[in-house]
Amino acid sequence: MKAMVYRGPYKIRIEEKDIPRIEHPNDAIIRVTKAAICGSDLHLYHGLMPDTRVGTTFGHEFIGVVHEVGPSVENLAVGDRVMVPFNIYCGSCYFCARGLYSNCHNVNPNATAVGGIYGYSHTCGGYDGGQAEYVRVPFADVGPSIIPDWLDDEDALLMTDALATGYFGAQLGDIRHGDTVAVFGAGPVGLCAAKSAWLMGAGRVIVIDHLEYRLAKAREFAHAETIDFAEHDDIVVTMKRATDNLGADVVIDAVGAEADGNFTQHLTGSKLKLQGGSPIALNWAIDSVRKGGTVSVMGAYGPIFSAVKFGDAVNKGLTLRMNQCPAKRQWPRLLEHIRNGYLTPSDIVTHRLPLEAIGEGYHMFSAKLDGCIKTIITMDAA
Ligand SMILES: NC(=O)c1ccc[n+]([C@@H]2O[C@H](COP(=O)([O-])OP(=O)(O)OC[C@H]3O[C@@H](n4cnc5c(N)ncnc54)[C@H](O)[C@@H]3O)[C@@H](O)[C@H]2O)c1
Ligand SMILES: [Zn+2]
Ligand SMILES: [Zn+2]
Repeated sequence: MKAMVYRGPYKIRIEEKDIPRIEHPNDAIIRVTKAAICGSDLHLYHGLMPDTRVGTTFGHEFIGVVHEVGPSVENLAVGDRVMVPFNIYCGSCYFCARGLYSNCHNVNPNATAVGGIYGYSHTCGGYDGGQAEYVRVPFADVGPSIIPDWLDDEDALLMTDALATGYFGAQLGDIRHGDTVAVFGAGPVGLCAAKSAWLMGAGRVIVIDHLEYRLAKAREFAHAETIDFAEHDDIVVTMKRATDNLGADVVIDAVGAEADGNFTQHLTGSKLKLQGGSPIALNWAIDSVRKGGTVSVMGAYGPIFSAVKFGDAVNKGLTLRMNQCPAKRQWPRLLEHIRNGYLTPSDIVTHRLPLEAIGEGYHMFSAKLDGCIKTIITMDAA
C-alpha cells in the first residue's frame, strides 16, 4: 500500500508499506477513504514531538471502510463505513470507565500521562496513522462508529478530531449564559471552538490570530469578532479594553507550543529549543481572562514546558482546564448539532489533495500558504 512516511523534520515521503495485519483478535483493518492533516501533525512535521521515529506514518484524523476484522470484533463488519476517533483506547480501564478516553492506561507502554494516538510518535504509543491506504485499528469494538447514512464524509472526518476538539475546548470553558469567550488561534480547532461557544450560551465570541484570511473565516464561519494581534502593541491591553477592563470570562488556547507573537519566546522555544516551545499564547490567555475566569487549553504542549505565568494564574484565582480531547465522547451531541444544521465543520475545508501530494499539503499548511485552513487527503481520488 501507499503511505505517508516521516523521514525527518520537514521531510514527508510517499512510500510502499505492507498492508497492516490483524495483530490482536479485536483489531480491524480500515481502508482509509479520507484523512486530514491536523495542526498537531505540524508539531511532528517540525520535529518538535519527542520520539517521532523516522519511518512512521502520521494521521490521526481519518474515516474509511472496514477491510478486515479480527475474530472477536462484534460491532463492525467488512464493508462498514466508519469514522475513527483519534484516540486509541481500551474502553474498560479505570480512566476509560470515567470517560477519559485520551488518558487510557492500556494502550501506551511509553507514557503514563497520555494514552494512544494514531500516527503521533512513540510518545503516544507508536501506532501508525491513517495518512495511508490502510490502517490498523486496535480495540475495534470500542473506538470506531458506523457513519450514519445522512452524514457527509467530510463532516464525519472532522468529527474525529478538529470539531470534537473545538467543541471540547468550549465545553471545558464551562461557559455560562452571556459569557464573553475569547479564542486564541483561528485554525480548525479555534474556529470550531468559537462556533461551539455560541451553542453553549456565549454572549460574545472574540477570535485572535495574525492571519487575516483565517480571521475572515472566523467572522464568516463562527460569527465572531476578530482581532489581529500583530496590529496591536499589546494584545492583552487590547483584550482588557475590549472587555470593560475586566478580561474575558473564558479564554480558549487553540494555538499550542509553536505560537508566534513574541520573538524571544519563539527563538528560545521553537528554534533553539532552550525551552519546550513558546508559552506566549498560554500566557496571553492567562493575562486576558478575568480574575476567577477559566482558561481552557486545547493547544498541544510537549511533556515538559516553559516559562508559563503560573503564579499569575494562581493569584487571579483561575481555573485551568485541559486534555487531549476524548473525541468519541462528543459524538452524540455533535451528530445532533450537525443534523440540525447548527454545525457544518466541512465549511472550514480549503484543500483536497490526493495522497501523492501530501508533502505539498504539509508544506502549504505549515507555511500557511494559499489560504490554507484545513486540508483533506482523498485516498480514493485516483
Ligand atoms: N487537545 C487536543 O485534543 C488537540 C486536538 C487537535 C489539535 N490540538 C492542538 O490545537 C492547536 C491548534 O490546532 P489547529 O489544527 O487549529 O492548528 P493551526 O496551526 O491550523 O492553527 C493555529 C493558529 O494559531 C495561530 N497563532 C499562532 N500564534 C498565535 C498567538 N500567539 N495568538 C493567537 N493565535 C496564534 C496561527 O496563526 C494559526 O492560525 C495545535 O497545537 C494542535 O496540536 C489539540
Ligand atoms: Zn489532531
Ligand atoms: Zn482504557
